[in-house]
Amino acid sequence: MDKKKQLQDLKAQMEADKSLPLRDTATQLVFGEGNPDSEIYFLGEAPGYWEDQKGRPFVGLAGKLLDELIQSLELKREDVYISNVVRFRPPENRDPTPEEITAFAPYVDREIEIINPKIIVTLGRFSMGKFLPGVKISQVHGKIHQVSWHGQETTVVPMYHPAAALRAGEIMKQLKADFQVIPEALKKIPEPQLKPEQLSLV
Ligand code: URA
Repeated sequence: MDKKKQLQDLKAQMEADKSLPLRDTATQLVFGEGNPDSEIYFLGEAPGYWEDQKGRPFVGLAGKLLDELIQSLELKREDVYISNVVRFRPPENRDPTPEEITAFAPYVDREIEIINPKIIVTLGRFSMGKFLPGVKISQVHGKIHQVSWHGQETTVVPMYHPAAALRAGEIMKQLKADFQVIPEALKKIPEPQLKPEQLSLV
């Protein structure tokens, strides 16, 4: 089954899952979007007002900044994949609770499995905590981490959340500089090696 169809099925499963928290106060589900073959998977926190209204991730002010940062890599938003750890807007944009993040996690995990990106860029401390629990974002942002995740080596680059950059000039400077690490991180990842039994098929 192709990736687009697998993502559509995953979205339908989430829409039907009445056990997911925050559903009753949100307008609609905000699923991930972008290029399912992207090498880069951006993982944010949770939908805000505009995302809840439009049903799309990162379409408010923080999203506008994210678009500009993506363009600074000579890429377009449609070239990458953008998602969130929580898929319904928390009331008043409060922080998601650990229980809410846990409830959405199997869907986030499955989405990552389908996209199978080369690198995961976490935006903010909530998505960072999924891969690098217990670390401080001020100490690790912009650094390339090899993480063993679901039995596979995965490259994770934690970054500040764009909304935090909009509130503080120093964070904005660091976020812009951290984005420039992405091409370097991609270069460092070797192409998948063919297994011996596959060589005869080439
Ligand atoms: N902030 C997030 O973390 N995600 C969005 O989709 C929008 C704002």
